[in-house]
Amino acid sequence: NDPLKVAVAGLGTVGAGVVKLLADHKDLLAARAGRPVVVSAVSARSRTRDRGVDLSSYAWFDDPVALVREAKADVVVELIGGSDGPAKAVCETALDLGRPVVTANKALLAHHGLALAARAEATGAGLWFEAAVAGGIPIIKALREGLAANRIDALHGILNGTCNYILTTMRESGRDFADVLAEAQALGYAEADPGFDIDGIDAAHKLALLASLAFHVPVDLGGVSIQGIRHISSLDIRFADELGYRIKLLAMARRTAEGVEQRVAPVMVPLDAPLAHVEGVNNAVVTEGDFVGRSVFQGRGAGAGPTASAVVADLIDLARGHKVPVFGVPSSALSVLPRAEPEDH
Ligand code: HSE
Repeated sequence: NDPLKVAVAGLGTVGAGVVKLLADHKDLLAARAGRPVVVSAVSARSRTRDRGVDLSSYAWFDDPVALVREAKADVVVELIGGSDGPAKAVCETALDLGRPVVTANKALLAHHGLALAARAEATGAGLWFEAAVAGGIPIIKALREGLAANRIDALHGILNGTCNYILTTMRESGRDFADVLAEAQALGYAEADPGFDIDGIDAAHKLALLASLAFHVPVDLGGVSIQGIRHISSLDIRFADELGYRIKLLAMARRTAEGVEQRVAPVMVPLDAPLAHVEGVNNAVVTEGDFVGRSVFQGRGAGAGPTASAVVADLIDLARGHKVPVFGVPSSALSVLPRAEPEDH
């Protein structure tokens, strides 16, 4: 069978992880996908940086848009990051050429998801983003496929691994915020600008994507009320602990009679709630479906391994010839609902 040829744009933590996974699990993936899945070409800013993976057999491009146009590839994996600039150019160029795109870029999709979905539909290219939300949890697939029989009216969860790592480590070790944040950065969990993590913006990006999939509404980042964890002190965490709570950065979305309510905020979670025990770099998502009831998902939410795992899951779907609507239904079927003000709980 013909291999699925993959062009990878961006070789940071996740890009290098994807190249390594595809090499390490070559046989397993060929069996699962029904054909080999191989990297054909890569692009990144620095050709010489040591990433711990052998890139010598792939065509090299300095310019990611040239990679999209010129590399012999069936699919483009966009791992550059950022809501505009080269990441957006790569995705738009690929989709307009009818080439499927797999991306981990939640910022790009939160800002331009609807327009990109429409482009993907216009050429039939396909746009896949399992890796954009909670890497280790197949939550996109769950909403789009496993729970597709349900009306989903609410979901909430822990969607930022860096914040959860910081809150957990501060509580366990008493270390201060800046010190633990630096560690999360060194472990490859944080965004290029860690302000996106600690100010709740990254969680808001992911929440807006999940709300779109769950409620069939256009991605509405502007409708998310956002508060981060920058001002949480060790003392806050200790007092919460003594009262029987964990402080967690929660992302919450509901469809109400007034419209869609979306909110990211630090919340005191009682110890008898499952999310209180989701620690470290883990993420969790709780969904409420009308027939299935409550479902709880948990897994690592950041880092090379979990994110690469999600990227390659999308590549396997593509290699199998699967086609799915980007946000679960055609973009023309997404209905704009009013923004409902979150209530204080
Ligand atoms: N910075 C993100 C996080 C990476 O910490 O969750 C995964 O999207």
